[in-house]
Amino acid sequence: MERFSPSELEQRVQALLSGGAAARGAVLAHDLDRMMARFYRLQAALPMGLHATAIKAHPLVQTLRRLVQAGGGLEAASTGELAVAQVVEGIRRVEALRQRLETRCGRAVPRLDVGGGVPVAYVGERPAWSLEDWAEGVRAVVEAPVLVTELGRWLQAPCGFALSRVEFVRNVGDRRIATLHIGADLLLRTAYAPLAWPHEFLAFDAEGRRKEGEEEAVDLVGPLCFAGDILGERVLLPHLEEGDWVVVRDTGAYTLSMWSRHCSRPLPPTWGFEKEKLVLLHGGEDPEAVAHFWGAELWSSSGA
Ligand SMILES: Cc1ncc(COP(=O)(O)O)c(C=O)c1O
Repeated sequence: MERFSPSELEQRVQALLSGGAAARGAVLAHDLDRMMARFYRLQAALPMGLHATAIKAHPLVQTLRRLVQAGGGLEAASTGELAVAQVVEGIRRVEALRQRLETRCGRAVPRLDVGGGVPVAYVGERPAWSLEDWAEGVRAVVEAPVLVTELGRWLQAPCGFALSRVEFVRNVGDRRIATLHIGADLLLRTAYAPLAWPHEFLAFDAEGRRKEGEEEAVDLVGPLCFAGDILGERVLLPHLEEGDWVVVRDTGAYTLSMWSRHCSRPLPPTWGFEKEKLVLLHGGEDPEAVAHFWGAELWSSSGA
């Protein structure tokens, strides 16, 4: 859970207390600030004598206390594209909270989960910031005996690529446009925030040979029914033709998990290597699966 309201956190803590495997408390620095501001407003509005009771009764205090009593940890959560120093500052603040909770509750909170947020260099050679800088910063501020990380894209993104046939290529004014079979459905972030989530592309011919020759600017667009379904504008690639293949690099993260239902396209299959062996990891979808998603059974049973 990345962001929470007191009631959501309370539910998670309840699940944790009743042994729910998925339950986990997470605290984002921003949320802490927000919650504490609410807490202080409440405190200021009360007559003096009631403060202690109100503080003890406040959902944030109650739930954090119960989280600690249940042996839970704290999580700094995923952070998006920030500077290392900002991320480390967030972690430092959650670590400070962990230490305060230990003191206040008189019991150990051994686990600090620092979440993910380490970026990937999708384009170019140099990473936005190094894992070493991040690790050094984290080590300097965290004293918890158990440190948990949840690096997502740093681990996963470079492990995968997406492959599409070029369906057709057309010239529109001074632009050359190649239409692929993947677009904003698989690469949601790239289509909607292209500057933040760019990708590199490679071109292969119909027989799978890497294309060579002079590069030219081409727009790589997806199959969806809106003009923003663009994966790359004026990408420099060797001359693309219908039937060629285009590889989108570094698609191991935030792709399959973000698959969009827009235009009802079926999820493509996902293959992976188990040691040297190519295995089907996910079979994708057929049209029946898409119809099922939209509730086709319901319409047919209601006679609509
Ligand atoms: C709870 C949690 N942990 C870790 C991650 C991974 O984050 P990142 O890919 O930024 O490392 C996410 C991403 O959504 C997340 O929600």
